Amino acid sequence: MCGIVGYIGKKEAYPVIVKGLQRLEYRGYDSAGVALLNGDLNIYKKKGKVVDLHEFAKDKDLSSTVGIGHTRWATHGEPNDVNAHPHTSQSGKLAMIHNGIIENYAALKTDLLKKGYSFQSDTDSEVFINFIEDIYINTDVDLAEAVRLALTKVVGAYAIAIISLDDPTLMIAARKGSPLVVGIGKDEFFLASDATPIIEYTNEVVYLDDQEIAIIKDNSLTIKNIEDVELKPYIQTVDMELEAIEKGGYDHFMLKEIFEQPKSIGDCLRGRLKSNEGKLVLGGINDYVNKIMNADRILIVACGTSWHAGLVAEYIFEEFCRIPVEVEYASEFRYRNPVVSEKDVVIAISQSGETADTLAAISLAKSRGATILGVCNVVGSSIARATHAGSYTHAGPEIGVASTKAFTAQISVLTMMALMIAQKKGTLSERDYHNLLVELESIPDKVAKALDLNAQIEYISEIYKDATNFLYLGRGYNFPVALEGALKLKEISYIHAEGYPAAEMKHGPIALIDENMPVVFIATHDSSYEKIVSNIQEVKARKGQVIAIVSEGDTEIPKMADHVIEVPHTHDALMPLIAVIPQQLLSYHIAVMRGCNVDQPRNLAKSVTVE
Ligand code: AGP
Ligand code: GLU
Repeated sequence: MCGIVGYIGKKEAYPVIVKGLQRLEYRGYDSAGVALLNGDLNIYKKKGKVVDLHEFAKDKDLSSTVGIGHTRWATHGEPNDVNAHPHTSQSGKLAMIHNGIIENYAALKTDLLKKGYSFQSDTDSEVFINFIEDIYINTDVDLAEAVRLALTKVVGAYAIAIISLDDPTLMIAARKGSPLVVGIGKDEFFLASDATPIIEYTNEVVYLDDQEIAIIKDNSLTIKNIEDVELKPYIQTVDMELEAIEKGGYDHFMLKEIFEQPKSIGDCLRGRLKSNEGKLVLGGINDYVNKIMNADRILIVACGTSWHAGLVAEYIFEEFCRIPVEVEYASEFRYRNPVVSEKDVVIAISQSGETADTLAAISLAKSRGATILGVCNVVGSSIARATHAGSYTHAGPEIGVASTKAFTAQISVLTMMALMIAQKKGTLSERDYHNLLVELESIPDKVAKALDLNAQIEYISEIYKDATNFLYLGRGYNFPVALEGALKLKEISYIHAEGYPAAEMKHGPIALIDENMPVVFIATHDSSYEKIVSNIQEVKARKGQVIAIVSEGDTEIPKMADHVIEVPHTHDALMPLIAVIPQQLLSYHIAVMRGCNVDQPRNLAKSVTVE
């Protein structure tokens, strides 16, 4: 997984590419590089961030109106200058950037070695460009056709862009499994992994589909598929403001995104929910309501934070709709021959809409006849297009690698879905249905109140920033919140943390508790309140440090906890939307205090487009 950018037109290509790569850095950031054509093919690449590349390249020859750039998340070969992209072919004439994995690269490499090719890097990508070159020079075809022929032979995932010293008016791109967008400007074209590097210049884009090839030649765009059939480009208008992808005065994207949640949840509900009219409409799934109501079961597939949102949804669907739900790690799903039938409805949850494991789970479920719904944030993403129907979360671009506003928007959409089905199915009384609509509508304001706790949470963070372990405990609806709290802390502060159902603590994790163990309890006033109070006492009896997230006005827990964070009260089912906020802030402040790179944590990337 990585970010790729290309430019061909009349502007200087380098600034467009470098700025674009910075916008895509969330996708990978272990090395970066550019290739620029200006009579020569100049390639500059460097281990590290895009800023390191820029530092290295700034006094080099950067003049060019045609170029490609890459920010890498290594799959084949360690992150270093040589393995960084772009890679060139043996003749030195072709340069390519690649996002994805070529699974049969070893066999291709063996053949190429026999033919006298040699390789500088350890990457699958360098094999790929030489495979293309081999066809190009040994067959009587042009470069676009050589690329197409090569694509019929490679196995794996790719988004690629290629330029050639032989023809500075030409740029070729293709995708399968990894995303690629073509931006159409006036006398100029852009390529990028998502629309964010493009929207500054044009809002007209074409999202390439799998196994499509874009050929930009002499200022015109041709799209064909791998079978050599020319296709009419489907030009779409991207509706994204530039400010949505900038930090807007915050120190980090993550903090901006945490604070955006009253708005992002509001955007997600807007036009769909009107409690005073008893109205709940999710246009995207209207045609599938009967199918869901009559499903034998709902299978939820997702990874990471999206999987946690899926767990919350499991509780909501089972409670309100009385439909059995299973929540599966998409990364495990297809490796165990799961039982899936036409009577199942699968809900795939993904912020990016590009997670390879989730895509693979979808295609397995689809091949067995299930109906697939998507809950995605990125409009036009691969998962949004691979599903039969779905509802977007409309949270706006999420750039911080640690997911925050996408999680609350996912839960909001899934709650609306469940309430819609429950009402139609008659498994929820009109009164409860109406109360839940009113309560859901009030969530943005309550989240805003929870955000007012920022200063208190910063204070608590200072006390625990040097801890080496954390436990997060919750019950019922707050159990997935505990898992999410632990994941947030792990990924950005590198503190080991575990989330557990509070009652399970006695079956093992209680052995970890001593005076050095901070334990975050999500202990809001719900149906298991009394039980969790006992769990807090069990931890205090063993000298654990308790940070309790409680409902406003709680008088009991403050008597036993070391720190109490009071959040506005809501219905049990909606509490995850509020209880997660202090946890996001806690992780954020601890990570900042520990000097961690909050927006780009080590070893991670925003969307995991490799399996
Ligand atoms: C969340 O903070 C993580 N970085 C990660 O677990 C993420 O939620 C997961 O990779 C799934 O991504 P998706 O929602 O884009 O599919
Ligand atoms: N497989 C390629 C590499 O390791 C591309 C990885 C990516 O998508 O960043 O260089």
